[in-house]
Amino acid sequence: MDDAPQPDPTSLLDELEWRDATTADEELLEVATWVNVNWLRHRTSRAEVRENPRMAHYFAGFGHRGGDLGVVAQTRTETVGVAWARTFSAQDPGYGYVADTMPEVSVTVFEDYRREGVGQALMERLADRLRAAGYAGASLSVEDGNEAVNLYGRLGYRTVGHDGTAETMLLDLRV
Ligand SMILES: CC(C)(COP(=O)(O)OP(=O)(O)OC[C@H]1O[C@@H](n2cnc3c(N)ncnc32)[C@H](O)[C@@H]1OP(=O)(O)O)[C@@H](O)C(=O)NCCC(=O)NCCS
Repeated sequence: MDDAPQPDPTSLLDELEWRDATTADEELLEVATWVNVNWLRHRTSRAEVRENPRMAHYFAGFGHRGGDLGVVAQTRTETVGVAWARTFSAQDPGYGYVADTMPEVSVTVFEDYRREGVGQALMERLADRLRAAGYAGASLSVEDGNEAVNLYGRLGYRTVGHDGTAETMLLDLRV
């Protein structure tokens, strides 16, 4: 039997590169929005996500508006996940809209890379960016039954509303 100590398996997190999302990431955010809408089962096509203003406003023209912030996790060859934030208005609210001054956060980790801490790391990095940009808080919407709610709770998000099918959660960035 070989008693030689085995090297620690490298964690995915150790292999990743992190970068800010830019205007060039609009298509990535479109795909991520599509994945998020279909988190439970197939509900919506890519074309519908592009054509429905309530979904398209999560990515259309990303990077051209003040408050557009995002973090991308990638290997040398693949995009692993992305967390990003945009501000909305009462006239054109996101599903997790709280106030014009509170960006709404979205997060997606692509299927092969889940449950390895990437989602949490992306959300923490994004919160740091939002805090540095001077925002007092950030919100999000999570549908009933999505276990992502546990991740958000661990990160400090608290439920501030429920519309019948989804919770609105808010993170205080001043603490
Ligand atoms: C939610 C999501 C971003 C989490 O990314 P991740 O890299 O797997 O997250 P982490 O490894 O950092 O944390 C895992 C946590 O995610 C949560 N989670 C999300 N989806 C889950 C699922 N299907 N099953 C179990 N846990 C899930 C749990 O709280 C889990 O924590 P736990 O392992 O302690 O139970 C990823 O699962 C995803 O993209 N899902 C599909 C799209 C989606 O639901 N987006 C969020 C919309 S609100």
